[in-house]
Amino acid sequence: MLFQAAGISGRLAGIAFLAMLGIGSSSAAYNMAADAPPMLPETILGGADQDYEVEPFERLQIFDGCVMNLDGSQKFCIHKGIGGFLLDPNEARWQAQISRNVPASEYSAADRRKFPLWELNHVCGGSLIAPNWILTAAHCVNREDIRRYGLTVRLGVGDLSKSEGVAFRIDRAIVHQDYSTTTKLNDIALLHYVDERTDRKSLTELGIEPIFLHGDLGEGPRLTPDHRLITMGWGVTSTGPDGRNSKNLLGFRLNRMPNEFCAQALKAPERIDASVICAIGPGIDACQGDSGGPLNAAVYHYDSRRTVAVQVGIVSWGIGCAVPGNPGVYTRVSRHLSWIRRAMAAPGDVTVMR
Ligand code: ARG
Repeated sequence: MLFQAAGISGRLAGIAFLAMLGIGSSSAAYNMAADAPPMLPETILGGADQDYEVEPFERLQIFDGCVMNLDGSQKFCIHKGIGGFLLDPNEARWQAQISRNVPASEYSAADRRKFPLWELNHVCGGSLIAPNWILTAAHCVNREDIRRYGLTVRLGVGDLSKSEGVAFRIDRAIVHQDYSTTTKLNDIALLHYVDERTDRKSLTELGIEPIFLHGDLGEGPRLTPDHRLITMGWGVTSTGPDGRNSKNLLGFRLNRMPNEFCAQALKAPERIDASVICAIGPGIDACQGDSGGPLNAAVYHYDSRRTVAVQVGIVSWGIGCAVPGNPGVYTRVSRHLSWIRRAMAAPGDVTVMR
């Protein structure tokens, strides 16, 4: 047990009201809406960004993977079907792959012998959060890649070596102005893609759907300090010179690690503030190539009466990969909701935004 001593920083302000305010339905509509930013009352935005964290523990019990209210009603459950290793694109309908369009001829013969082109050109993971918008990490956005070759996003793909799913051209990247290459704080970016298909099957028909963002749902997705989480990606499956990307999308079950423990474990207090979230698994971790991908929690959504995936983090950094005791660090999505909304509403020439 890693987190036995987990203290709960019980900041309760505002949280209990979110559900009563019924923001679930309007925020669900937000995810599906065309490019328009959501119209949510400012108080809710602020609440979500500031302290979308924990429930008072005395009011909750954890039972058989579900979090229950004391009156016995079910609050939310951690979905058990997902995880393990191999993920079907249907279980990760929001998962995006970002690659650069470097032609094979630009790589050395040695590289081409060793790696397939999809692997040479793989950049990062990402997630579909609204039509035409991919959430990813700021450190995934390399202006030189964009300028010289261009970036592509693929959705609905499990096996990167096959031509599954759909691919779109990325025409804009918006990076958080306060992203720091030294602390890695604010490691968040949005990519905008254009759908130039002539055969316009809807994304839903292709099994592709945006993911809800943590803090955008009214009921359920509150993180407890020991919440179980899932991350996914095509990152390398071993470290060192022989580390190769996985051609199949893999999912990893992780446990939340409270920030104070995370800061101690990584000996980097200045890099672990409330805008990140940490997660650790026994011998499993995100690694190179998983960056930008989502860290998800599965929660029961009262409004739609089903379990939905909620994105709580963005794969950002770690010290090594799966080093015992070292958690992975993820950008905390609920802290950046208003940035995400403003970035999506920003004029087309904005590339860096605070
Ligand atoms: N920064 C890496 C990337 O660009 C991923 C880091 C995640 N590392 C970890 N140990 N959790 O793909």
